[in-house]
Amino acid sequence: MKALRIHGFGTPDRAVLDDVAPLPAPAAAQVAVHIEAAGINPLDLKMLAGHMQTVFPVKLPYTLATDFAGVVQAAGPQATRFRPGDRVVGRLEPTAGGALAQAALVSELALSPLPDGIAFEQAAALPTAAGTAWLALFGVGRLQAGLRVLIHAAAGGVGGFAVQLARQAGAHVVATASAGNHGLVKALGAHEVVDYRTGELEARARDLDLVIDTVGGGATERSWPLIRPAGLLVSVVDHAIQGQDGVRAAFAFFQHDAPVLDAILARLASGQLQVVLDSIHPLEEARAALVHLAGGHARGKVIVRMPG
Ligand SMILES: NC(=O)c1ccc[n+]([C@@H]2O[C@H](COP(=O)([O-])OP(=O)(O)OC[C@H]3O[C@@H](n4cnc5c(N)ncnc54)[C@H](OP(=O)(O)O)[C@@H]3O)[C@@H](O)[C@H]2O)c1
Repeated sequence: MKALRIHGFGTPDRAVLDDVAPLPAPAAAQVAVHIEAAGINPLDLKMLAGHMQTVFPVKLPYTLATDFAGVVQAAGPQATRFRPGDRVVGRLEPTAGGALAQAALVSELALSPLPDGIAFEQAAALPTAAGTAWLALFGVGRLQAGLRVLIHAAAGGVGGFAVQLARQAGAHVVATASAGNHGLVKALGAHEVVDYRTGELEARARDLDLVIDTVGGGATERSWPLIRPAGLLVSVVDHAIQGQDGVRAAFAFFQHDAPVLDAILARLASGQLQVVLDSIHPLEEARAALVHLAGGHARGKVIVRMPG
């Protein structure tokens, strides 16, 4: 089968489409999934660069990406939840990788059933980005109705889901995006969208209860004075974040939780949630997809479609 692998760390040009041996039969409660689509994330670029070796050490060669949707091919002897033919979506451990391939072995506990009517490309967009938005807002951020929340990079993968989920939770949502993405972010449910390239953030985002920081650096620095005393900044980019001047701060570290993905899928199936797809690339062009994501201005999620 085909797999997009790295044999050394670096930039996306290090990724090569290799022919690799077929997978062994699933053991214990593993299932073998024929992957139809993979969603790519900035984490994949950090893994590719070798920047995550202390957190997620990998052995080379390494098959990139974690998020996938596909069809169960075979189930291990102790697997009870899935059978061949079931449509599924899930996430592989970053240390294992393997979503940019035609098939993967995964514990059935990491899988969610894919409801009818949801395309593989939409489903593959969800695990890391929507899961992180959920964790940052509800797990770490304890968001409640009526609170004022600022979501940075609202046109991106995590931010686009965070805007929708925060609005549905009854928050007042202020979001940042460049001017060309304001229509999109409004359509996702933001009450106000601010161009982060201008000075209008300071004028329009005040008395915030919660900031979801998916950017770091200057975006973090600009956020502190906008948060009310005892408010909270949740960073998904700075693991060492510390509160300041009476404002609290916490790092949200995403770990896949299939029941949370089930809840996100239910919202997608009922039409409450939408998936914004930046682009869909065939596996042969997955390297170009990584380069595009690395540009930092994807509009929604970047997806790779596997060959039949
Ligand atoms: N801690 C965790 O467990 C965890 C989990 C998931 C993701 N993350 C991290 O979170 C970050 C965001 O991930 P993502 O998937 O959302 O990335 P992404 O989809 O690549 O984000 C792209 C978006 O960022 C926007 N953007 C770029 N610079 C900006 C700025 N200065 N201010 C506001 N928006 C800006 C762009 O909007 P415009 O084109 O409008 O500029 C674009 O839409 C990454 O660093 C990722 O590694 C961490």
